Amino acid sequence: MPKYMVTSALPYANGPLHLGHLAGAYLPADIYARFLRMNQQEVLFCSGTDEHGVPITITAEKMGITPMQVVDKFHSIIAEDFRRFGISFDNFSRTTRPEHMKFAQSVFLELLEKGHIVPRDMKQLYCPDCKRYLPDRYINGTCPKCGSEDARGDQCESCGTWTEPFELVNPKCGICGAVPETRDTRHWFLLLDHFQGWLEGWLGEQSDWKTNVLKYCHSWLGDGLRERAITRDISWGVPVPLEEAKGKVLYVWFEAVLGYISSTKEYFAKAGKDPEEWKKYWQSSDARLVQFIGKDNIVFHCIIEPSLLHGLGGYTLPWNVPANEFLNISGEKFSTSKGTGIGLADYLEHFDPDPMRYALSVNAPESRDSDFSWMEYQSRNNELADVLGNFINRTLKFTSSKFSGKVPEAVNDTVLLGKAEETAADMAVLINSFKFKKAIGVAMELAREGNRYFDTAKPWKSLKTNPEECAVTVASCLNLCASLAVIFEPFIPFSTEKIRRMLGLDKLSWSDAGTVLLKPDHELGNAEILFKKLEDGFEEVMNKTEISVEEEQAAPEAPETTQVDFEDFMKIEFKVGRILTVEDIKKANKLYKIEVDTGDRVRTVVAGMKKHYSKEELQGRLVSVVCNLKPAKLCGVVSHGMLMASDGEAGVFLIEPGADAKPGDTIR
Ligand code: MF3
Ligand code: ZN
Repeated sequence: MPKYMVTSALPYANGPLHLGHLAGAYLPADIYARFLRMNQQEVLFCSGTDEHGVPITITAEKMGITPMQVVDKFHSIIAEDFRRFGISFDNFSRTTRPEHMKFAQSVFLELLEKGHIVPRDMKQLYCPDCKRYLPDRYINGTCPKCGSEDARGDQCESCGTWTEPFELVNPKCGICGAVPETRDTRHWFLLLDHFQGWLEGWLGEQSDWKTNVLKYCHSWLGDGLRERAITRDISWGVPVPLEEAKGKVLYVWFEAVLGYISSTKEYFAKAGKDPEEWKKYWQSSDARLVQFIGKDNIVFHCIIEPSLLHGLGGYTLPWNVPANEFLNISGEKFSTSKGTGIGLADYLEHFDPDPMRYALSVNAPESRDSDFSWMEYQSRNNELADVLGNFINRTLKFTSSKFSGKVPEAVNDTVLLGKAEETAADMAVLINSFKFKKAIGVAMELAREGNRYFDTAKPWKSLKTNPEECAVTVASCLNLCASLAVIFEPFIPFSTEKIRRMLGLDKLSWSDAGTVLLKPDHELGNAEILFKKLEDGFEEVMNKTEISVEEEQAAPEAPETTQVDFEDFMKIEFKVGRILTVEDIKKANKLYKIEVDTGDRVRTVVAGMKKHYSKEELQGRLVSVVCNLKPAKLCGVVSHGMLMASDGEAGVFLIEPGADAKPGDTIR
C-alpha cells in the first residue's frame, strides 16, 4: 500500500492568514488528508511556518520588534487559526528550529560537493542612501517579461515570473527610492541547468497533473533554466555553512522547501516513534508526495524542489502538485498588507468554521481564480441549513417523536442506500483526482435526494395508513443520514461529528457509506443545532471593527449620562496637534487619513471628516487630539488617535485650540 505524504505550502510567519490562504493550500490539503484517513490509507500531513526571508525582516522593521519576536508571535497565531478551522496537520513545524537549519545546511554542502552548487563573484545592487546591499525584494522596477511597473527583484506578481534584480528595467531602492549602485560580492549558485533535461523527462511523464500547473512548468523549461543565486547578504536566515561566507545566509526558498522534510522528521522525533521513519515517506519509491500550494509557488515546487531532491538522489519526488489559482474578494486580490481580505481569526470571532469550509469548497479556485462575496457565503450557508441540516433534522425529529428515538424494525430501501454507495464511489474518483469542488456538489445532491425521498414517502401519512412502509422510510432515511455523515466529513468535519453524535455513531470509514449502519432498536443521541440560517445584512458584524470609529464620528448616538471618576478622565491624553497632510483612503467615502504633529511625534489618525471639510481646509490647521486611544484599523489604515469635533444640526466642527497654542500642548 502506498504511503501518502501530504503537504501544504509553509506560510510566512509575518502576519495572520486570510481566507485566500485557506482556500488555496490548506483546506484542499485537509480535505484530501481526511479522505485518505477515512480510507485507511497511511497518510502524514505536514507543514509549518516559513520564518526566514525578507518578508519577516520587513515586518519586524515595521513593528519595531526583532524578527524572532515576529515569527514567535505569528507562528502561534497561524497555528491556532488552523486548529480552529480544523486543518488536521499531523505536524506543524517552524523553519527557525535548529534541526531544520542544520538539515538545510547539510543539503547545501552535499549539493556543493556534488557540483550542483558553485560560488561566483558577482555584482550586486547597493543603495548608497540606505548604505546596504539590497535584497531582491527591496528592489522595485519594471518586469522584463510583461512590462508591469510593480515588479520586484525576486518576482513579478502580475505574470508570476521569477525575476533577477539586474533584469529589472529602471531599478529603484524599495526602501528610499534612490537609484542603486553596483558592487562586487560573492554568492553561491544552484546550477539549475544541470536539471533541465531530467526535468523535461520527469515532468513529461506527469500527464495527470493539472493543466495549469504543467503549463507554467513547460513555459519555464521553454525559456531554458539558468543558474540561480541561493545565498543572500542579509543577517536573518540560515547561515551559509562556509567559513568564507560569513554574514551570508541561504536564500529563503532554498531552505523553505526543505521544511516539509524537517517537519516530517520532527513528527517522528517525538516520543515513542522511530526517528528514522521519516525515510519511509521521503526516501521511498512507494511514497506519494502530494503538495498543495497556490499558483504563485509552482516554480518552487515543480522546478526547484524536484531539482534539489533529484540532485541529492534517493528522495521521493512530488507525485502531484495540485496548485490552486487565487481566491479574490469582490474582484480584488486578498492582501493582508493592503488591509483587504478577511482574516481567519476575524471570521471565527463571529461564525463557525464549517459554513466557510463548505462555501470555499463549492467556490474553490481549482481551475481559475474565483471570487468570494458575503452574498455567496450566505447562500452556501443557507444551503447547508436548508438541504443537509433540514434532512437530518426532520428525520431525527420524526424518529424521536414517533419511534421514541429508536431505529424502527424494517428492511432498508436498497435503492436509496444504493444511491449513497454510488455517490461515495463517484466522490472517491473525484477526490482522488483533486476535483474537490465537483465532489462536494455530488455530496449535496445526495442530501437533496434525501429530502425528495422524505417528501415523496410522506411518513407522517403512512404512519397511520401503512406503518410498515413508514418504518422502512424512517430506517432508510436514518441510514442515509449516516451515509451523509461519512461523505461530508472531509469537508465539514465539525458538523459531521455532531451528526454522528446525534445518531449515536462512532468514527466512520468511507466504505461505510451506503451500508446499514443503524440496526433496528439502535438508540439515537440528543438533538443538536447543526447550522444557523443567515439573514440579509448578517455580515455587518464583520465590518463593525473596521468602521466603528467612522460611525461614532459621523453619527454618534445620544450619549447616556454616565459619571466618570476624575482619575479616569485624567487618563485621557488630550493634546494640541497640527495637521500636516490629508489623504483619501481607498473605498472609504467618509474617512481621511491625516498625519498630525502632536509635539512628541507625527501620528496617523483616521477621521470621518471627508463630508465636512476639504483637504485644503484641514491642511495646517490646529486641532484637539485624543492621543492615547487604543490603535484601531479603519479601512485598512491604523489610526493612532482621534480628532475632537462637535456634532450638531448645524454640522460637524473641529474643536480648535487658540491660534497661539503649539503642537504638544496639553488640553485639560
Ligand atoms: N512562504 C511561502 C509563501 O507564503 C511559501 C513557502 S512554501 C515552501 O508564499 F515550500 F517553500 F516552504
Ligand atoms: Zn535606499
